[in-house]
Amino acid sequence: MAEDEVLTAGADEVERAAEAALRPRRLEDFVGQEVVREQLSLVLDAARARGTAPDHVLLSGPPGLGKTTLAMIIANEAEGALRLTSGPAIQHAGDLAAILSSVQERDVLFIDEIHRLARPAEEMLYLAMEDFRVDVVVGKGPGATAIPLTLPRFTVVGATTRAGLLPAPLRDRFGFTGHLEFYSPAELEQVLHRSARLLGAPLDPEAARELASRSRGTPRIANRLLRRVQDWAQVRGTGALDLEATHGALRVFEVDGLGLDRLDRAVLRALCERFGGGPVGLTTLAVAVGEEPETVETVAEPFLVREGLVARTPRGRVATAAAYDHLGLARPDDGALWT
Ligand SMILES: Nc1ncnc2c1ncn2[C@@H]1O[C@H](COP(=O)(O)OP(=O)(O)O)[C@@H](O)[C@H]1O
Ligand SMILES: [Mg+2]
Repeated sequence: MAEDEVLTAGADEVERAAEAALRPRRLEDFVGQEVVREQLSLVLDAARARGTAPDHVLLSGPPGLGKTTLAMIIANEAEGALRLTSGPAIQHAGDLAAILSSVQERDVLFIDEIHRLARPAEEMLYLAMEDFRVDVVVGKGPGATAIPLTLPRFTVVGATTRAGLLPAPLRDRFGFTGHLEFYSPAELEQVLHRSARLLGAPLDPEAARELASRSRGTPRIANRLLRRVQDWAQVRGTGALDLEATHGALRVFEVDGLGLDRLDRAVLRALCERFGGGPVGLTTLAVAVGEEPETVETVAEPFLVREGLVARTPRGRVATAAAYDHLGLARPDDGALWT
């Protein structure tokens, strides 16, 4: 992994393997997210009592907050098999038809990035979710016929970083939507201690506190920083996961005081220095930092907004006084600043 990827919330291949070992498998081991956890446990208990598959569930929130983990927990608790796919992996309705025609009673079909599903596949999914039916098209051209196929009761779990992009008819097919929020430092401390225990390396309480406050409210980042602290401790420290190793690793990987990463800082800098604090449109801002608008909007912006560094206004994104302070820039004196 490149150094500047240490703080991004997405996961690559190597990381997915490391993450698998740290994923909680039961709802009671899932830290934080009280609201979503209670909603989910109600849905799961009710389904168990009725002896049926749970209702379809949509999970939304920024990357790294536990959507995939919850999908796995749902499959686990519903005692069904988990089938994994994603919006971009389903190019044609036929791809989805093939998956649907092999689902078994109680299976949990997890569709990651469901907002990127192609339109024809989306329509097929409505029908499957509502009526447990799919039309399998046999043959091509004028001779093609649609053979209706009845599906067993199964559960769709959709995950999205952009719930607002889901067409209303699709959104309406979900029994409930769980909105995942950024974690508090106290919750991230719990995540870190749990992970350290699983890695067999006790983490000093002060080290956990420091790491938790620098993890951008995101368990994936907390776990990743923990592994870098482990590296530092092993190579340059005493082997203990203490405050010294933590500060060492945070310095090497350029994690700033708020836990902001390179993209976050680039966005803030562009806003303050190039656009005079805004307002500026998302696309213009994305071009300025050389990223896709979707990345800026779903990866960087939610945390910047939550930290009060950036505000969204009808006319575009604006930097707040706190943004200037954080970057160590003088606040502009034209009075047009958002506080
Ligand atoms: N509530 C939680 N408690 C403990 N660990 C968590 C929690 N949420 C996420 N994690 C950890 O963070 C990592 C990323 O979570 P994941 O479910 O893949 O996020 P998402 O799918 O939302 O991007 C996983 O390795 C998981 O172990
Ligand atoms: Mg995921």
